[in-house]
Amino acid sequence: MSTQHGVKRVAVIGAGQMGGGIAQIAAVAGFDTVVFDANADAIGRCEKTHDKLLARGVEKGRMTEGDAAAAKGRLTYASGFDAVAGADIAIEAVVEDAGVKREIFAKLAGVLTGDQILATNTSSISITEIGAATDCPERVIGMHFFYPVPVMKLVEVINGLATDKGVTARVIALSEAMGKVAVPANDRAGFVSNRVLMPMINEAFYAWMEGVAEPEHLDEIMKLGMNHPMGPLRLADFIGLDTCAHIMNVLADGLHAERYRPCPLLEQLVVAGRLGNKSGRGVYDYSG
Ligand code: CAA
Repeated sequence: MSTQHGVKRVAVIGAGQMGGGIAQIAAVAGFDTVVFDANADAIGRCEKTHDKLLARGVEKGRMTEGDAAAAKGRLTYASGFDAVAGADIAIEAVVEDAGVKREIFAKLAGVLTGDQILATNTSSISITEIGAATDCPERVIGMHFFYPVPVMKLVEVINGLATDKGVTARVIALSEAMGKVAVPANDRAGFVSNRVLMPMINEAFYAWMEGVAEPEHLDEIMKLGMNHPMGPLRLADFIGLDTCAHIMNVLADGLHAERYRPCPLLEQLVVAGRLGNKSGRGVYDYSG
């Protein structure tokens, strides 16, 4: 396979939920895909999830058994960074920590020294800042997928200050080859998706805190009234309350505006360990 994107082999850095989802759709779309994670447990969980979701795709008639086996055959899992060499694009999906990402991109730039693309799935960290950690910021770009990756159609493609237009065109072509719709945005805190989504979620916490409505009623109003698949508080649980609070702080810092700080009630739930679906309780209780 060699088209406008020029990609045959994809390296995904990070075997968490986002990285695993990105690797899955890349392999299903026909790309040789390696998933790198230094944590062997994360790799094991990622491979199990791939087996489960590919089997589910067959069960649901979205692919044949042969397609699923071929996709699995294109996936490899590695806990050594050397596995990244030979990729035409690296898509990083590790923890949302600017320091960690800068370190990874400096390493990637040292291994992928040609015209390979260095993409990050960050949801809010500056692409320009990540690019500045390398000697090739023109090859660094944001490729923001949405959770759950196999289901959500969008890739928000974010250009840093130095991103080359040719790299943007290749990433748009690659996203489309992966079955997604790519939409470009520029590099301001939160880009478009989280600049607009997170203040809505934050406002829902304020409305709840002020007693405007109970969470169930608030969510029902937004779900049915706006035709959203889930209400904002349920969505906050789905994304993770810690992630929502973190992104609000990134918006406040990046846009120099205190009005973006997380709602005190959101912060309080995070401090209490109520992080949403992943911890069994957030706004709602998932223990049952
Ligand atoms: N992983 C993989 N597949 C999943 C999944 C997951 N975590 N959760 C649901 N699915 C799949 C289901 O398996 C199902 O597929 P099948 O055909 O195999 O059954 C399909 O999605 C639909 O699921 P359900 O029928 O169970 O439920 P639903 O129709 O209510 O859809 C939903 C579930 C797709 C999650 C839907 O509620 C939805 O779209 N919610 C909003 C999601 C959203 O806004 N995501 C973006 C979050 S923001 C973000 O990611 C970016 C950021 O920077 C924070």
